[in-house]
Amino acid sequence: MERLDKILSNLGYGSRKDIKGLIKKGNIMVDKVVVKDNSIQIDPNKSIVEINGQEIFYRKYIYLMMNKPKDVVSATVDKYDETVIDLLDPDYMAFEPFTVGRLDKDTVGLILITNDGELNHKLISPKWNVEKIYYAKINKEVDEKDIKKFEKGIVIDDGYKCLPAKLKIISSSKEGSEIELTIQEGKFHQVKRMFEAVDKSVIYLRRTRFGPISLDEDLNEGEYRELSDEEIEALYSCAKK
Ligand code: URA
Repeated sequence: MERLDKILSNLGYGSRKDIKGLIKKGNIMVDKVVVKDNSIQIDPNKSIVEINGQEIFYRKYIYLMMNKPKDVVSATVDKYDETVIDLLDPDYMAFEPFTVGRLDKDTVGLILITNDGELNHKLISPKWNVEKIYYAKINKEVDEKDIKKFEKGIVIDDGYKCLPAKLKIISSSKEGSEIELTIQEGKFHQVKRMFEAVDKSVIYLRRTRFGPISLDEDLNEGEYRELSDEEIEALYSCAKK
């Protein structure tokens, strides 16, 4: 059970004072009965709430995937740069969304956005080893020796030995390479640091998959959509294994 004024204000229907005003005017009904008590508590999953005769769509959590563009940061607020949260419709702001992990400012591709703290915690926890797949362009030739090194576990600049990573070469020549890399961790600048450790640089990085979720190819950079029920279910299952 939760206070009705808190539920409605969290859903973006105004401040708690605004909701009080609506209740006073008799504009809110719960299960077809006009609400008179400002402090009423309800179970939002069971009761039907109407404001001015319009049924409200209750949900506690939001789950979005965005194709993050370049030059936008993954923080919720930033003094200097636009954030992925700034790109969302203002209607989502009442949910206080944040990103699941981070991508660098110059990295593009799949980023999940939610306000489900518990799921977020599991998805980014090293305990669950949720796989992430990246497509990258590398400045030099990537070869079989690199595949083996990545498989064994690359030691990055701070001495940390990464978990085995799957490196797939899409194309490779003296001029540069295109690769796909699957990693199980999410250390700061991890992909870039792994390639630096084999004396190469990442010149373009796009995340294409996060656990069971693939980047929707219909989303242009900067666009986002809500996850389907199946996708949300898959995320929960991958954090339960
Ligand atoms: N690895 C990086 O180096 N950068 C990212 O944004 C994500 C993974």
